[in-house]
Amino acid sequence: MVPARAEGRALAEKLGFSRTDATLIATAISEVARNIVVHVGRGEILIRPIYEDDRYGIVVIARDAGPGIRDVEAALQHGYTSKAGLGLGLPGARRLMDEFAINSKEGSGTMVTMKKWRVRTELERIQERRRRA
Ligand SMILES: Nc1ncnc2c1ncn2[C@@H]1O[C@H](COP(=O)(O)OP(=O)(O)OP(=O)(O)O)[C@@H](O)[C@H]1O
Ligand SMILES: [Mg+2]
Repeated sequence: MVPARAEGRALAEKLGFSRTDATLIATAISEVARNIVVHVGRGEILIRPIYEDDRYGIVVIARDAGPGIRDVEAALQHGYTSKAGLGLGLPGARRLMDEFAINSKEGSGTMVTMKKWRVRTELERIQERRRRA
């Protein structure tokens, strides 16, 4: 959990996200990582940059081969928990990121994919063109 959070924050800052946005991304990563720890026991977190012409992004994939989530819609509601949690992790992470999807079937694990984007400014594009020239 701790390394995933730190790696997410470092990549977000390298991509030019504000410190506030880097913190929000790190928090969303913590929640999906904590779900793997609490509800499954083992799994993996992949964190990658996305470079597009007019925006940069960060994609986070959290996946495990645990019991899965029977009712994904319910799990995304505030306050839904199957343990003694607060049931705020998934809806919180969804709110903090720009894109959020859960692929899960009972018995075959869970994959959460989430992305956050930031616009590339005109200045950044000019600087990049200069660097390449
Ligand atoms: N990776 C997972 N594998 C299996 N079930 C999961 C997984 N992630 C979430 N869930 C299910 O979705 C429910 C909601 O998750 P959420 O993170 O919102 O709440 P919580 O983990 O119970 O509590 P909190 O995160 O607030 O401490 C969980 O209670 C659990 O039943
Ligand atoms: Mg949780």
